[in-house]
Amino acid sequence: MKARSVLAASAAVTCLALPALAEPQAEVLHWWTSGGEAKSVAVLQEEFAERGGTWTDMPVAGGGGDAAMTALRARVLSGNAPTAVQLKGPAIQEWYEEGVLADISEVAEAQGWADVLPDQLAAHMKCDGSWCAAPVNVHRINWIWGNKEILDANGIEMPTTWEEFNAAAEKLQAAGITPLAHGGQAWQDATVFETVVLGLGGAEFFQSALVDLDPEALGSDTMKAVFDEMRTLRGYVDDNFSGRDWNLATAMVMNGEAAFQIMGDWAKGEFLAAGKVPGEDFTCAPTPGEGFLYNVDSFAMFEVDGEDKQAGQALLAELIVGPSFQETFNLNKGSIPVRSDVSLEAFDMCAHISAEDMAADSENGSLLPSYAHGMALRGEPAGAITDVVTAHFNSEMSSDEAVEMLVNAVAAAQ
Ligand code: GAL
Repeated sequence: MKARSVLAASAAVTCLALPALAEPQAEVLHWWTSGGEAKSVAVLQEEFAERGGTWTDMPVAGGGGDAAMTALRARVLSGNAPTAVQLKGPAIQEWYEEGVLADISEVAEAQGWADVLPDQLAAHMKCDGSWCAAPVNVHRINWIWGNKEILDANGIEMPTTWEEFNAAAEKLQAAGITPLAHGGQAWQDATVFETVVLGLGGAEFFQSALVDLDPEALGSDTMKAVFDEMRTLRGYVDDNFSGRDWNLATAMVMNGEAAFQIMGDWAKGEFLAAGKVPGEDFTCAPTPGEGFLYNVDSFAMFEVDGEDKQAGQALLAELIVGPSFQETFNLNKGSIPVRSDVSLEAFDMCAHISAEDMAADSENGSLLPSYAHGMALRGEPAGAITDVVTAHFNSEMSSDEAVEMLVNAVAAAQ
């Protein structure tokens, strides 16, 4: 862990006030560019404009946000940080330690965030006790999406074990259907990998391996079994998977070109944006195994000069956690509200499963942060794991070799 500098400490105590006569302005960096994502972020733009705000959009395409984070670094290094940035997990604290984040505690306290946000999730939004990010939603990672017509026609139920998944995939393959729509990008490989870690290893194993980075768990036979399953899954994707964007993989399931996709529930936002109905056109089920991998999108405000920009930051923070935005945004995005007091009446069956499982898993200690989506680990160890996962998926590497490489890479990254 990096020590906080004196500069960081003094920067972090500058509070965002709401200047009376300022005209709110915000330049917002985000990576929500797919159909469902764009529809969702438009909700925030509209609410911001309704309150007199001027929004300058800075979308950086690329699922998972890797390209957006590269763009952010360039902007901050050139001394020209965007006013608001889609940022989440420990990356929030990493940026805070650089001394470049604004404190949004004043808004958070005025709006009573502590009363409406679950503690475990609110903790991600805090930096040394002050509020440094505004949470948008709760995405669940461990989902399988299925094409209903294909599954029905082939007499296949949503799998509840990885063996069942493999058996279904073999059956589909024999019938000439691509079992798994996948986009060969490192973050998508990591997304599938973490669902297999949870599914085969269980919640405690996930915690030890991908949160606590315990070398024994990373080097275990269970981890070898995870890589075995990844090799099996590799056999179920089509030949053109390499480099494919996640939303194009979702479209394959939508259009009947593949049966399943393993992806967080922003995939549902994509189905919904295309007019598809859960339970009729597509199905959702948790990936095999217990537990809930969460991914909470949030926005952090960067230190900027000017009352208009600071007013924009305060307004954005207020809107983001506001109940109206939380409902409308999440209906589009595929996630569920992060506020515990928003009614789920208007939400679909997948959202209900998500909310019920989240409550149960929170009780059971199996509500876990996603490593693949930057909720569990800082950049370096997360990147080291993903490099191994993707190298294994795209080669003939054995599970023994992968596990050895994993242990070494994680040790070197700490
Ligand atoms: C995730 C993000 C989601 C979704 C996804 C694909 O990291 O949290 O909101 O946008 O990437 O881009």
